[in-house]
Amino acid sequence: MHTHTVATTPFDDQRVGTAGLRKTVAVFSQPRYLENFVQAVFDTVDGFDGASIVLGGDGRYHNDVAIQTILRMAAANGVAKVIVGQGGILSTPAASHLIRHFDAHSGFVLSASHNPAGPDGDFGIKFNIRGGGQAASSVTDAIYACSKQLAAYKIIDSDGVAINQVGTQSLGNMTVEVVDSTALYADLMAQQFDFDAIRQLLAGDFKMAFDAMHAVTGPYAKRILVDTLGAPRDAVRNATPLPDFGGGHPDPNLLYAKDLADEVINAQALDFAAASDGDGDRNMILGKGLFVSPGDSLAVIAANADALPAYADGIPGAARSMPTSRALDAVAAQQGFDAYETPTGWKFFCNLLDAERISICGEESFGTGAAHVREKDGLWAVLAWLNILAVRQQSVADLMHAHWARYGRHYYQRHDYEGLTVDQADACMNKLRNALGSLRGQTHAGLAVTAADEFAYTDPIDQSRAEGQGLRVCFGDAARIILRKSGTGTSGATLRLYLETFRSDEWELRLPPAEVLAELAAVADQLTGLREHTGRDAPSVIT
Ligand code: G1P
Ligand code: ZN
Repeated sequence: MHTHTVATTPFDDQRVGTAGLRKTVAVFSQPRYLENFVQAVFDTVDGFDGASIVLGGDGRYHNDVAIQTILRMAAANGVAKVIVGQGGILSTPAASHLIRHFDAHSGFVLSASHNPAGPDGDFGIKFNIRGGGQAASSVTDAIYACSKQLAAYKIIDSDGVAINQVGTQSLGNMTVEVVDSTALYADLMAQQFDFDAIRQLLAGDFKMAFDAMHAVTGPYAKRILVDTLGAPRDAVRNATPLPDFGGGHPDPNLLYAKDLADEVINAQALDFAAASDGDGDRNMILGKGLFVSPGDSLAVIAANADALPAYADGIPGAARSMPTSRALDAVAAQQGFDAYETPTGWKFFCNLLDAERISICGEESFGTGAAHVREKDGLWAVLAWLNILAVRQQSVADLMHAHWARYGRHYYQRHDYEGLTVDQADACMNKLRNALGSLRGQTHAGLAVTAADEFAYTDPIDQSRAEGQGLRVCFGDAARIILRKSGTGTSGATLRLYLETFRSDEWELRLPPAEVLAELAAVADQLTGLREHTGRDAPSVIT
């Protein structure tokens, strides 16, 4: 088979964001765009020659085309073996697991997470390293530098590799091993959890639903929840992955999974419900009459980790991203494990996980996970909750109320302002940034500012430094306001405002979050000039 070295000209926008390179399908399907990025990875990172790599994606539009291109390029770049999910499909956590399971050199994960899919939607690619985590910024910066100078890429001829059947075949000198997309992941989950306890819970009158939102988790959820754990077939909804995710927005939150939320929170027709996102790494947890905010979910899982077989002996520590609520810290303080605060983005947890400093970690953006893989894991979180409910024999509401009674409650909201111009977003960031130096000691809404800074992080394992990771204003343990610019969008700018208020008196534990946070939101508006600079009188999405 012939290897072509194809002359190319560079693109100047292949810098990786919070989680991989994300662009519209229109951008990704331009000639040479994907090829250039993939070649920049092959040229930058050592060790591809003779290596095994993992390849798969969330099945969105353009997944199939991209898989074929990457296979042909891998063969041309000396890769010995590519392990591909059947049909080119792998959830993000399953891809991370396969890299670990096969001790592969690395992997390409094709996904734009929860961003809409289809010809007018988004596409994305993540490069994950040995061990299963996303490449660190130092690596992606080097890939970006290479992409800006790229002169050629390498590709072999092929009429198309058949990836719909499990089995092994050759492509040039390379082996393509197509594996069952769900089997190994399902085995991993069986090792992590008390499946007998969950089976018993589901065999009783406990009613649950899982919404796969027409995205990648459908087959995984059917295999584990229905086939293995005995949930009724209709408990897994929207289970067939579609290339356009059914035209929906597969982001598990109260806006995009509204029907499910109405059914369980308002109509109280289910005991437990959950949803996952496009590539299966996010999760939303709902109980009868109750939304579990992601920061609380993380804290509850950490507080009850001893109910999970994998962590029965306790955990050394847990981590949260900086904007995530400090509910986790309250648990760590009482239970005596270490708590870490990292920048936004899962890659910052990986060194801590590798060094076994932490076992559980999470983000406010509906991301929760543990040491079993190096990506956040939506189904893992759902199974962790079912396992805890089964062992504790409590409803979601009882568990939450007991948790707040013991640790206090961190009321929390994230306000997203989407579709702003870069100038509008920068105006708000600059207003707050310029005020940071003088805020300390001021009192706002009766709360004294104890710290105000731009978050920067030194990784405790490799001492790498990450600057400019969000502006934060802290009012002791009582409250925080955080503002940062999203790093996952594909056009314009999105601002995220994070609000957190702590209450511990018994009468204050069951109030509507919007009511508790209203005063803090007004302070935030004043400090950031959000309404003034954006012309908006409300956020686009509140989660
Ligand atoms: C968002 C979330 C962040 C998450 C990332 C990938 O990034 O806020 O927590 O890790 O998506 O799922 P952002 O758009 O805020 O940069
Ligand atoms: Zn995702």
